Amino acid sequence: MGTNTNKNAFASKMGAILAAAGSAVGLGNVWRFPTETGLNGGAAFILIYVLFMLLLGVPVMISEFVIGRYSQKSVSESFYSMSGGKNAWRYMGLIPMFSSFLVLSYYAVVAGWTLEYAFQAAVNGFAGKEVTQYAVDFVNFSSNPVQPLIWMGLILAITCVIVALGVQKGIERGSKIMMPVLFVFLVILAVCSLSLPNSSQGLMFLLKPDFSKVTAQTVLSAMGQAFFSLSVGLCCLCTYACYFRKDVNLVKDATSVASIDTLVALCSGFIIFPAVYSIQGLQPDAGPSLVFITLPSVFQQVFGDMPVLAYGFSLMFYLLLVVAALTSSISMLEMGTAYFQEKFHVSRVKCAIGVTCVCFVLGTACSLSFGDWSYVKVFGMGFFDLFDYLVAKFIMPIGGLLATFFVGWVVDEQVLKSELTNGGTVSQPLYRVIRLLVRYLTPICILLIFFSELGFF
Ligand code: ALA
Repeated sequence: MGTNTNKNAFASKMGAILAAAGSAVGLGNVWRFPTETGLNGGAAFILIYVLFMLLLGVPVMISEFVIGRYSQKSVSESFYSMSGGKNAWRYMGLIPMFSSFLVLSYYAVVAGWTLEYAFQAAVNGFAGKEVTQYAVDFVNFSSNPVQPLIWMGLILAITCVIVALGVQKGIERGSKIMMPVLFVFLVILAVCSLSLPNSSQGLMFLLKPDFSKVTAQTVLSAMGQAFFSLSVGLCCLCTYACYFRKDVNLVKDATSVASIDTLVALCSGFIIFPAVYSIQGLQPDAGPSLVFITLPSVFQQVFGDMPVLAYGFSLMFYLLLVVAALTSSISMLEMGTAYFQEKFHVSRVKCAIGVTCVCFVLGTACSLSFGDWSYVKVFGMGFFDLFDYLVAKFIMPIGGLLATFFVGWVVDEQVLKSELTNGGTVSQPLYRVIRLLVRYLTPICILLIFFSELGFF
């Protein structure tokens, strides 16, 4: 115990936490969380979301950690070997594996947008525009057949290089550089935003729950957000856990990651809502366009008298989005890369390039669904919306159900006990609670919410 026997392992405990937190912290926190909070009434949504993090997110994360670290294999092979060689489990393990392609494809589209916006901020492209121009510019950009693809290709290429560099030199080192940058940007931006006039209204929106706004849809959205934000249900964290040392405390790691993730989401709220409320007449429920249409305009208006601050604030905010997107896309790319590397004994570099190319092709379809291919609909949705819907509402909860059911019912109880106590070397006072959650509460909650979504009750 305690020594690193795997040359493909994170070198330090801090590296393991930062990489897992990097996988969790992403556009889900800085883009999706404020969007969902804005659309679902603020603090009441946040409370339900935090409850789901504890009840569903953390147990699923612990299950994924257990599977990954115990098996030391890529995801579908973990399920196969830990089930005692049952092929059915191998095929089930392929569901989250291939879904990582879907997620990365549409995630890379938005990540590409963040890169374009960081570029615009860097060249001071937001200054001096009419308020209505920001919406026109966003629609023109996102529906352009070429420009978003270039940015998406660039973000995928950067992700591919980091993954190709390997676990320690690429993923761990990247996380150790990017995560502190992200925290520093977050704190500076939140302090600036909270010092704006009327910021207290934004704070109230985030902190004072209004339960009259809670509907069945709010509950579903909160569950989807908890899964998406923690990156659980996709088994990206199974793959990362293969690289954990044997002395990493899985429960502490999971709770640290969930706490960091929630803090980052709240901090993003502290940046965005006070800024939005500081302009008379603006509402927080602009939806997905909040970050790309409302905010560039807000930053220019609130710092109207101080162009240097408008420039600095915009640049820092969009760089924050880029960094957040990168740390998560790395974990999504790593999952497919690790699988193909293990399965076909091909080099890491070739696998990373192959997975990147597939994601670029799928991402192209998602990007074009905002423009030239907007007429192509599957179940009434364009590719981007379809991928997002399938991933957040179906695949992630199903993946979470698989992971908890597998650990709770299929593998020997000793595996859970041994992984949570590091082979009996540390005590785990919450062991019984965690086992109860993993075996009963978490899978039952996921099933109930899932069936209610399908309209069964
Ligand atoms: N967990 C990742 C995010 O929040 C997918 O963006």
